[in-house]
Parts: sequence; structure tokens; C-alpha cells
Amino acid sequence: MAHLLVVGAKSDLGRELARLFAAEGYSLYLAARNSGELAEECEHLRIRYGVQAVARELDILEYGAHAGFYESLEPKPDGVICAAGYLGDNVKAMEDFREAKRIMDTNYTGPVSILNICAADFRKRASGFIIGISSVAGERGKQSNNIYGSAKAGFSAYLSGLRNSLCKSGVRVITVKPGYMDTRMTRGMKFPPILTAQPEDAARDIVRAWKKGRDVVYTKWIWKFIMVVIIHIPEKIFKKINF
Ligand SMILES: NC(=O)c1ccc[n+]([C@@H]2O[C@H](COP(=O)([O-])OP(=O)(O)OC[C@H]3O[C@@H](n4cnc5c(N)ncnc54)[C@H](OP(=O)(O)O)[C@@H]3O)[C@@H](O)[C@H]2O)c1
Repeated sequence: MAHLLVVGAKSDLGRELARLFAAEGYSLYLAARNSGELAEECEHLRIRYGVQAVARELDILEYGAHAGFYESLEPKPDGVICAAGYLGDNVKAMEDFREAKRIMDTNYTGPVSILNICAADFRKRASGFIIGISSVAGERGKQSNNIYGSAKAGFSAYLSGLRNSLCKSGVRVITVKPGYMDTRMTRGMKFPPILTAQPEDAARDIVRAWKKGRDVVYTKWIWKFIMVVIIHIPEKIFKKINF
């Protein structure tokens, strides 16, 4: 039976992805901080899909514990999804470096730490897949979330290079770039409904892309075209736009 590790398994998107992969027959390691809160979800996955599901404690910022965490997984996973993330408060982050560092570390340093460990094992076994949840925010920095956006830009570049490095070993790396998603992260924010994905729809897009062998997936798909426009706005104009 194939196993999947979901990092950030309490996230709205991570939970939906775990359910869809369980429906594909994957047994699950649900990794999160305060992982005791995942007991009910594990029970649901076991009963509804007939797979094994266990919760494992993992703080993405506790880098020193990541190797031991991976070592403790038996059998080793055949795939990993990294869905942990932190939007944070950009105004605070521009004044208090501790907030900026937490945003950068949760969205970049921590994911790189755990995924490097998974990647090394997958390379050795010459199989596996890695799905990293980045963001369209990484494609062009804007004033309202330049710290988060820069961390996601780094994460997208990391995933791109990892894909380049692992493809010869038969290991797939998928970069996911959601636009707006209606999750706990964005609760209370107002987005145009037509541009906003529900986590279950985003998860379906991601699993479809995984099945089709895609490298990069935008969700909703329209964000791919929105970002082409945004990227091509001349800097002279872009710098004056208030968003
Ligand atoms: N929502 C959007 O509009 C949007 C857009 C683009 C990209 N994304 C990305 O999509 C991914 C999923 O986020 P979401 O929208 O589903 O939001 P979410 O429900 O807030 O999920 C974020 C998850 O990250 C986990 N996390 C934060 N710090 C952690 C740490 N130190 N160790 C372990 N886990 C930690 C949180 O754990 P706790 O449950 O313990 O707090 C939470 O479960 C994230 O990478 C996010 O950046 C979201």
C-alpha cells in the first residue's frame, strides 16, 4: 500500500488533499503541530476510505527535529505534500523582524528543511513525488504582502530547481500556485467569488494535475492568465498601483 506524508495536515487545503489521496488508496501520515487535534480526521479517513491514517507531530520551524521525524516514518512515504504556510501581518513584519522571520521561515526555510530530507530519500529510491504549495503571491511582489510573497517566490524557485534535479531519478515535483482560496488563512478577507477557490476545488485541481503529469498548477486556472498580465505591467506603472 502506498503512503503519503501531508505536512501542514490541519490546513484546509491539506485536509482536502489527504481525503482525495485516501480515495486513491493512499495511507496517510498527517503531520502537524498539536497533531492530537487530527485524531477525528484520522478516524474519518480510516472508516470512509479503508486506508491507514496516523497523526504525527511536526513543527515546520523545528528544523533540528526534521531528520528524526522522517526517520521515524515506517514505511517511508511514496509522496509528500507540503501545505504548511503563514500569511502573517505584513505591516507588523515591516516593523518587527520577528514577524518577518516567522513568515519567511514558515513559507520557505521550514518547507525546504523537511523537503530536502524527503527528496534525498526519494532520490535514493528513484521514485516518489513532491507537491509544494506555493502561491501566485511569489510571482510579483506587492506592498500588502511583500514578505510572504518573497518567501513564496523563494519556495517556487526551490521547487523548480528540485524538479530539475530530481527528474532524472524518476521523482516528480509539482509546484502549486493558488490564487485566492477561502480558508482559515484568509478568513474575514473579501475576495471576488469568481477568483476564489474553495479548498476542495483547489485540491481537485491539484490531484488532476498530479494524474496528468503536470509540473506547475494554478488554482483557479484563471490565475495563470491573470499573472501573465500582472507580470507584464511595466514597473513604472506597477509601483504606483495601490494593492
Ligand atoms: N488561502 C489562500 O488564499 C492561499 C493562497 C495561496 C497560497 N496559499 C497556501 O496554501 C497553503 C495552505 O494554506 P491554507 O490556505 O489551507 O491555510 P491554513 O488553513 O491557514 O493552513 C496553514 C497551515 O499551516 C500550518 N502551519 C503554520 N505554521 C506551522 C508550523 N510552524 N509548523 C507546522 N504547521 C504550521 C498551520 O498549522 P495550525 O493548524 O497548527 O495553525 C495550518 O494548518 C499554505 O502554504 C498557504 O500559504 C493559501
